Amino acid sequence: MPKTFFITTAIDYTNSAPHIGHAYEKVLADVIARYHRLKDDNVFFLTGVDQHGQKVQQSAAKTGVPPSEFVKAITQKFAHLWKKLDVQYDEWAETTSDRHKQVVQGILQRLFDAGQIYNDKQAGYYSIRQEQFLTDKERNPDGQFGAEWGQVEFREEENYYFRLSQHKDWLLSYLDKRKDAVIPDFRQTELRNAVEKLSGDLCISRPKSRLDWGIELPFDEEFVTYVWFDALTNYISFAGYDAAHSTLNSQPSVFRDKWPALQIIGKDILVPAHGIYWLIMLHAIGFPDDQMPQLLVHGWWNLSGAKMSKSAGNIVDPSVLIEKYGSEALRYYLMSDIATGQDADFSEERLIERYNADLANSLGNLLNRTLNMAHRYRDGVVTKAGGDSPLARQAADLVREYNGVFGRFEVHAAISRLMEFTTTCNTYIEMSAPWKLAKDPERSDALDHMLFALAEALRVIAVLTSVILPSAARQICYQLNIRDEFRLADADWGGLPDKHHLGKPVPLFPRIETTEL
Ligand code: MSP
Repeated sequence: MPKTFFITTAIDYTNSAPHIGHAYEKVLADVIARYHRLKDDNVFFLTGVDQHGQKVQQSAAKTGVPPSEFVKAITQKFAHLWKKLDVQYDEWAETTSDRHKQVVQGILQRLFDAGQIYNDKQAGYYSIRQEQFLTDKERNPDGQFGAEWGQVEFREEENYYFRLSQHKDWLLSYLDKRKDAVIPDFRQTELRNAVEKLSGDLCISRPKSRLDWGIELPFDEEFVTYVWFDALTNYISFAGYDAAHSTLNSQPSVFRDKWPALQIIGKDILVPAHGIYWLIMLHAIGFPDDQMPQLLVHGWWNLSGAKMSKSAGNIVDPSVLIEKYGSEALRYYLMSDIATGQDADFSEERLIERYNADLANSLGNLLNRTLNMAHRYRDGVVTKAGGDSPLARQAADLVREYNGVFGRFEVHAAISRLMEFTTTCNTYIEMSAPWKLAKDPERSDALDHMLFALAEALRVIAVLTSVILPSAARQICYQLNIRDEFRLADADWGGLPDKHHLGKPVPLFPRIETTEL
């Protein structure tokens, strides 16, 4: 049984509705998952929602509904959006589920029994409005806490702590040994620098008097576990991990066949959550170094250089964009206008510009004129004639480079290469002037040669585009009158049969008129 390629994304907070940043991460993961399916790898793509915590409890209280109902409504919004965006995941994680709760509690109990979790008292200044302890970092230059913290009082609170700092040396040595623990490189450097500065343990609980919307500690019913042991554990609890077994070898095969995962996260949750807490948690519960997940860290979509946030009121709603331009237009923009790992600025004008230039004018036009010519000159039948097409070598280069950049998760670069090839095909039409060939009976073979090569090129484009624009790729296949299920091997030149009958042209990417803005 070949190992499954296991992909996860961060689970999304259900304290508010999805925005463009969430959509980006999900589509990125979906494209990578589809690429691996195309390669014939077994794929397990896990995503879901983070339903517990203080913010959910507060948001639910504000709207006057119980947290369980509040998260149900937001969860639906996320699931609905992924459906509209054609995000094809294999498992859906909801952290309020029993299965998850069982694994979280099993892990906590094991760590408690092993002395990795202990009880301690914390004393300090506490902001009642923000419901958190404050440190000296939060003080103004005059030594006072600012008005944003509301009433601040001195408090003493008992909590449970995880012995995080005990594992600092292990994490440093792991990061030194494994150069691609985090992608891109500069994020691994950022993580390593943060680990160097690590001190102190991790508070993992909240007294129920402060927060009750969470998973109860199995060894103290007065507390729930706070954030990370709950949220991060989803990556294994929904993949079949059994907390009763402390060694990886004794885990059920459903889990061992998948793990370790490629975990796709945004830059804000590398340090400390995934890069420090999660890796140390896994190490502490018995995962060996060669079973640590790889972290692919993507950048953020900003708005005019500024962070999008609910409080700033500059959130871009993906559903509105889908409504206006369609889900493939949004997928295309999100995948083509940002370099994996870097930030980008969201712009609706750019979405339209890219769609019109790449999809309407270039790819859509290539498909349309190829089919039109084939019907006008050859009743829709393309015939093999002459020797190798100049497009054959270009297509082979494209496939090689496409695989190369996908191996580095550079989806934007794969798209650029695809678009270059599309431009090459359009230029090839201009240069060969088929309208002239059609008038010259002596050049009949040259016209056949060209039309066959263009149909074949479009077939290759459909295979490679299918991971980015699954629906458009299916429509290209439909118009070419070929099967719409393929593997990467189908991108090799020469798959179209002689005397193939092409379908009728239907405009695939109608131009977006900018007056719609
Ligand atoms: N619930 C936590 C993650 C727990 S993982 C065990 C969380 N949720 S979140 O809803 O705030 O963010 C979910 C993902 O969306 C994160 O990876 C985050 O980086 C990503 N993004 C949030 N805003 C984003 C942008 N503006 N741009 C790109 N991605 C962004 O963190």
